[in-house]
Amino acid sequence: MLAEVLENLAPHAGGVYLDATFGGGGYAGAILQAAPCTLWAIDRDPAAITRGAALAARFPGRLHLIQGKFGDMLALLEAAGVSVLDGVVLALGVSSFQLDDPDRGFSFRADGPLDMRMGGEGPTAADLVNTMAERELTDILFELGEERHARRVARAILTARAEAPILTTGQLAAIIRAVVPPDRSGIDPATRSFQALRIQVNDELGEISRALDQAARLLAPGGRLVVVCFHSLEDRIVKRFMTAASGRAPAPSRHDPRGLTQRPQAGYRLLTPRAMRPHPGETQANPRARSARLRALERLRGQADERAAA
Ligand SMILES: C[S@@+](CC[C@H](N)C(=O)[O-])C[C@H]1O[C@@H](n2cnc3c(N)ncnc32)[C@H](O)[C@@H]1O
Repeated sequence: MLAEVLENLAPHAGGVYLDATFGGGGYAGAILQAAPCTLWAIDRDPAAITRGAALAARFPGRLHLIQGKFGDMLALLEAAGVSVLDGVVLALGVSSFQLDDPDRGFSFRADGPLDMRMGGEGPTAADLVNTMAERELTDILFELGEERHARRVARAILTARAEAPILTTGQLAAIIRAVVPPDRSGIDPATRSFQALRIQVNDELGEISRALDQAARLLAPGGRLVVVCFHSLEDRIVKRFMTAASGRAPAPSRHDPRGLTQRPQAGYRLLTPRAMRPHPGETQANPRARSARLRALERLRGQADERAAA
């Protein structure tokens, strides 16, 4: 959704921006090309930062790469001497580089070590499936993967690991496929369980909540936050955050007098009252874009800022 990202971020000359999910640098390159601005870029994956050196060389002094988690963006930028931004973009989830490399352990299509860590730190997916209690595993598969057969999958994992540890993506996919019947959607029965484990391994939902709050605080008046999600759980968090920040929280009950004094002060404006979706042409060219949703928020200018901008 590159065109929509640029349209909502609206980079301008002299602006300072953050791409908090650098990945393959596609968005970063387009932002740098769109205006003579400065771009800070974060990715938790050291391989993404290493790859980014080539793009930084193409835009001397304009692209600054930081390895770390976007949930720590405030501290990471503060350490680099940056406290105000004209825009932040986040494209959540995994990159094609990560998904397509069997050694990273994200894919059930090719066999590889059952890893799934984007940043290479903390417990792997293999650690989780070989140690978690059945109940905890069931909850993760159900809540983060929306897997209807979560209990059945968790039980099959416990049975299999009693024989031998589950160490590869191929082993895990075979265990899941043996107990989850294919449905009419045609997606692989392992899809939802793999997604749940990936979200858990990388604490993806916790990271998003931390990042949204910090990104909003970093924005200068008139600055914009643009988020692209690929999953309904992520989108729900983003939608709630942006709705509340723009003062669109549901009106308090007229029967509850506390609500009259506790309305949030809206310091932001919703740029996308409804999530933007990719054009049919984009989903044809890139089927992974099918589930993408974009939401954007702008920090309001105070009256003094309006006068200064006029
Ligand atoms: C969908 S890709 C971004 C693609 C990028 N916009 C591009 O044009 O190539 C998501 C990237 O975000 C990174 N990422 C995911 N969660 C992160 C987090 N919590 N902190 C930092 N980077 C994260 C992943 O490592 C991955 O490289």
